[in-house]
Amino acid sequence: MNNLINLKNISKSFYNNKKISVLKKINYSFTRGKIYSLVGPSGSGKSTLLNILSMIDRPTSGSLSISNKVVNFSETLDNDKIRSEKIGIIYQQNNLLTDFTALENVYMAHLSLTNNKKEAKHKAKIILKKMGLKSREDHYPSELSGGEMQRTAIARALINEPDVILADEPTGSLDQSTAKEIFNILYKLKDKNRLIIYATHNRYFANMADCKLEMIDGNIKTINAKFKQ
Ligand SMILES: Nc1ncnc2c1ncn2[C@@H]1O[C@H](COP(=O)(O)OP(=O)(O)O)[C@@H](O)[C@H]1O
Ligand SMILES: [Mg+2]
Repeated sequence: MNNLINLKNISKSFYNNKKISVLKKINYSFTRGKIYSLVGPSGSGKSTLLNILSMIDRPTSGSLSISNKVVNFSETLDNDKIRSEKIGIIYQQNNLLTDFTALENVYMAHLSLTNNKKEAKHKAKIILKKMGLKSREDHYPSELSGGEMQRTAIARALINEPDVILADEPTGSLDQSTAKEIFNILYKLKDKNRLIIYATHNRYFANMADCKLEMIDGNIKTINAKFKQ
């Protein structure tokens, strides 16, 4: 089938002084080829859900399948490999490495798949060029604008040609016109084999998606799906 990611009874609680149940038995299937937006108030669990989808965090209970394979959250090395091969992640606050240039930030993400530095650099240059950053290759993050940093982060997320792109409020710290530019790029990445999920607070960007999901009381509610689920 075309279900790329399946969630079965996914729950996540955090225990500080008391237990906070953030995700409550979520069942959902994400379809390949579609773009989903994830909305909900601050603290509703959007990042928690994205962190589980990317296997950065583990659920308290329930199971996650990627390409029909159930993820074993204890196999962190295997999961790191799956993540670098299949999943591109973009965060709000760019988390580029400050001591490395744009080119280095991008090509290093490819070294987990190949030991060929020359090939990785070549690939990174092509993607940076596509992102309109050819003249910024040798710039450090501090020398880039907010939009340029996010385009570098997108290039980094793309270098391994991921099936899944997860973006957690990717334009949360950008002005509206730069945010539009970033979403235009994100939407150009739509492909029949790819799944894109992004969290956003912006209603306009949320409504562009093929399917808008809202986090309500620890669960996912489909607000408008423009395709048959
Ligand atoms: N590592 C953590 N430890 C304790 N509580 C956490 C942790 N991460 C998130 N939370 C709590 O889980 C809830 C959901 O957070 P989050 O997923 O970041 O929401 P959102 O991304 O929708 O703003 C919040 O109440 C937050 O405080
Ligand atoms: Mg968040």
